[in-house]
Amino acid sequence: MKEQIRALAKAKNAVIMAHYYCRPEVQEVADFIGDSLALAQQAQKTDADIIVMCGVHFMAETAAILCPDKKVLIPDATAGCSLADSCRAADLAVWKAQHPQHKVISYVNTSAEVKALSDIVVTSSNALKIVNSFPQDTPLLFGPDCHLGAYINAQTGRTMELWNGGCHVHSRFSVDSLLSLKREHPTAVVLAHPECPQNILDHSDVIGSTAALLHYVQNHLEQSEFIVVTEPGVIYKMQEAHPSAVFYPVLANDSTPSSKGCLSCNTCEYMRQNTLQNVLACLQNEQPVVTVDASVAQRALLPIHRMLSLS
Ligand code: 13P
Ligand code: SF4
Repeated sequence: MKEQIRALAKAKNAVIMAHYYCRPEVQEVADFIGDSLALAQQAQKTDADIIVMCGVHFMAETAAILCPDKKVLIPDATAGCSLADSCRAADLAVWKAQHPQHKVISYVNTSAEVKALSDIVVTSSNALKIVNSFPQDTPLLFGPDCHLGAYINAQTGRTMELWNGGCHVHSRFSVDSLLSLKREHPTAVVLAHPECPQNILDHSDVIGSTAALLHYVQNHLEQSEFIVVTEPGVIYKMQEAHPSAVFYPVLANDSTPSSKGCLSCNTCEYMRQNTLQNVLACLQNEQPVVTVDASVAQRALLPIHRMLSLS
């Protein structure tokens, strides 16, 4: 199946992009693997005719906005994102109207309609830098991830107003699981994504985007153990970068003693909807195609371009 996918991608001048949270076998057939920022940057510069975005819907939408002349495919059109779903454009419009002096900063995990209402988009790779690009006294609205927003407020000394949204995967990591792993492996470095709540970040050594956490592993080959508090799909590339290291994924809050060791509660089921079967089918059928309404895309493009120019 992998050979068929690669042959079809070549024949159709298609580029296969995958997020670090995808299943290992999907990462293996991809031309490019990255975090949400890198996927957008790569989409912007590709000369392929077709982009197959193995990720979730907002990632394919961002590629479609950036590449209106290309066909953007997603292996499963129902692969959504709980964080993006936690902020509807109509609700954001009300919040924005209540704060007419504020600039609106939206995380990339949002619908195209939400991006179209925003002044600038950020990802976890560039959020600190972009927030800091605003004068300290500029009033800011930040959404939808309240944990990332609180983390940025703490790092920058700002008082951004935060949307009360979150990611169901990062919100449910168990502090007990993290603390017991730390007790069992006292020299392990704790790597956490800033979508995790503060009670997880308080016990973490390195906080960053999926790419930043991977780079930390690549640059610290002297470390032999890592505790990972983000979607465990990222461990595939970490292990490849540092084969002798041991990576301990933190379990989810709802992991009962009987499910201990079962990782399904801490995976993103939407990312896992990308399979070799539907990557192949989408290349064969050139469907499902992700499109964005032209007027929404036009308004969403400016805040995405602002982000890319600051990244
Ligand atoms: P990254 O920007 O680190 O890729 O994160 C995207 C995401 O969806 C995390 O849950
Ligand atoms: Fe969305 Fe969370 Fe999945 Fe990331 S891990 S794609 S934020 S649901």
